[in-house]
Amino acid sequence: MLQDQDRIFTNIYGMHDRTLEGAKTRGHWDGTKDILGKGRDWIIDEMKASGLRGRGGAGFPTGLKWSFMPKESDGRPAFLVINADESEPGTCKDREIMRHDPHTLIEGALIASFAMQAHACYIYIRGEYIREKEALQAAIDEAYDAGLLGKNACGSGWDFELFLHHGAGAYICGEETALLESLEGKKGMPRMKPPFPAGAGLYGCPTTVNNVESIAVVPTILRRGASWFAGFGRENNAGTKLFAISGHVNNPCVVEEAMSISFEELIEKHCGGIRGGWDNLKAVIPGGSSVPCVRGEKMRDAVMDFDYLRGELGSGLGTAAVIVMDKNTDIIKAIWRLAKFYKHESCGQCTPCREGTGWMMRVMDRLVRGEADEEEIDMLWDVTKQVEGHTICALGDAAAWPIQGLIRNFRDEIEDRIKAQKAGRVSAVAAE
Ligand code: NAI
Ligand code: SF4
Repeated sequence: MLQDQDRIFTNIYGMHDRTLEGAKTRGHWDGTKDILGKGRDWIIDEMKASGLRGRGGAGFPTGLKWSFMPKESDGRPAFLVINADESEPGTCKDREIMRHDPHTLIEGALIASFAMQAHACYIYIRGEYIREKEALQAAIDEAYDAGLLGKNACGSGWDFELFLHHGAGAYICGEETALLESLEGKKGMPRMKPPFPAGAGLYGCPTTVNNVESIAVVPTILRRGASWFAGFGRENNAGTKLFAISGHVNNPCVVEEAMSISFEELIEKHCGGIRGGWDNLKAVIPGGSSVPCVRGEKMRDAVMDFDYLRGELGSGLGTAAVIVMDKNTDIIKAIWRLAKFYKHESCGQCTPCREGTGWMMRVMDRLVRGEADEEEIDMLWDVTKQVEGHTICALGDAAAWPIQGLIRNFRDEIEDRIKAQKAGRVSAVAAE
C-alpha cells in the first residue's frame, strides 16, 4: 500500500487549505524556477524515464508524446491543451484534483508548456463541472497575482498564459480532436488521425493534449526524481495512480495508490470490502465504461495496471474508474444502459458508429427483456465487430467493447433470460 509520504495528491479529500498558501505548505510551487532552469531536454528526458503513461485512458507514454512536438519553431505557435472534459461513466478523479489540489495542475501546466515551447495552455473543463471551474479559476487568478503565471512566469524569463475554457456538456468533446474543434468554436466532431495534434492541432499548430492527472503529477515527479516515480508499479506500468471506485463496495472513494496494486487490496484497504462479501461479487468494470466487464471471480487477484488488465483479462485500466457490481445487479440491463449512453453521445459523423450504436442498443433493449432469439446474440457480436476499428474515433470501440464483454462473460445469463421468457417465466423487465 502507498505510504502517505509518497502521495502526490495530498489534499484529495479537501481536508486542507487549497489556496496558493496552503499548496505551498504542502510543497507545491517549490523550486519551479530551478526546474525550468534545467531546460527542455532535461524535463522531457526525466518524464520519459519516469515511465508515466497518459492518465486519460489510453496510456500513451507522456514523455514520448511531448517529444513529438517540434524542437525548432517553424513560425507556428505551439500549444498545450489539458483535457479536463472528464465524462467517462464512473470517472471522477480529475474532478477531485481541480476541486481540492488545483495548484498541482497549474504548476504542471507551466512546466509542461515550457518543455514543449508553448507560451499558451488551454484547460478544457467539462460543462457540468461548475464548482471545479470556479475553484480552478480562483487558483489561476492567485497564481497570476503571485507572478507564477504571465510575463516572466516564476521569474524564469518564460512568458506563459493559462486559459480556462468551459465546455457545454458533450461527451464527445473529451475526444482530443473533437475537443480542439470545440475550442476553435466549432461543433465538437472528431478529426481523422493522422495528422496527430503534435503535427496539426489547435488552429493547425503543434499541440499536445494531455489529461489533468498526467499534467498534475509532473512537478512532483521532477522534484522527487524519475526513478522515485518509476519505483512504483510493475515494469511499463509505473507510478502512483488515482482510482475512482464506485458501485457495490462499502465505501466508494477516489484514492491514490501504487500502480499494480491487487484488486483485493485496493477494495479491502480503501473501500471496506465488497457489499455482502467477496462471494457476492458478480462483475467489475475496471477502467471506466469503455472497457469490457470482467467476472467477479477473475478480478479478486487481478493486478490493477494497463498490461495485466488488457493482457490477462481482455479488459483495460482505462481511466481507472473501477465499477463494482454485486449479485443483485442485472448485468444485461447495466450494459444496455451503457449502450444507450453511447448511442446518445455518438456525433453521427461516421456510419458504423451512427447506425451501429442504435442497432446495438435496440438489440440490447430486447435482450434485457429476454424478447430475442438466441441466434441474435451472435448477430449482436457480429455488429460489434463491424463497429470496432471501423470508425473515426474511439467512441465506436467504446460502444462495442462493453457488449463484447457482456457476451464473453455472461452469455449464459442472456440465454437463460431468453429461455425463461419463452417459457413465460419472466415478466417483461421494463427498460426505462
Ligand atoms: P489513442 O490511443 O488514439 O491516443 C492516445 C494519445 O496518444 C492521443 O493523445 C494521441 O494523439 C496520441 N498518439 C497515439 N498514437 C500516436 C502516434 N502514432 N503519433 C503521435 N501521437 C499519437 O486514444 P484516444 O482516442 O486519445 O483515447 C481513448 C481512451 O480515452 C479510451 O481508452 C478511454 O479509456 C479514454 N476515455 C477517457 C475519457 C475520460 O473521461 N477521461 C472519456 C472517454 C474515453
Ligand atoms: Fe462520431 Fe462515432 Fe464516428 Fe466518433 S466514431 S466520429 S463519435 S460517429
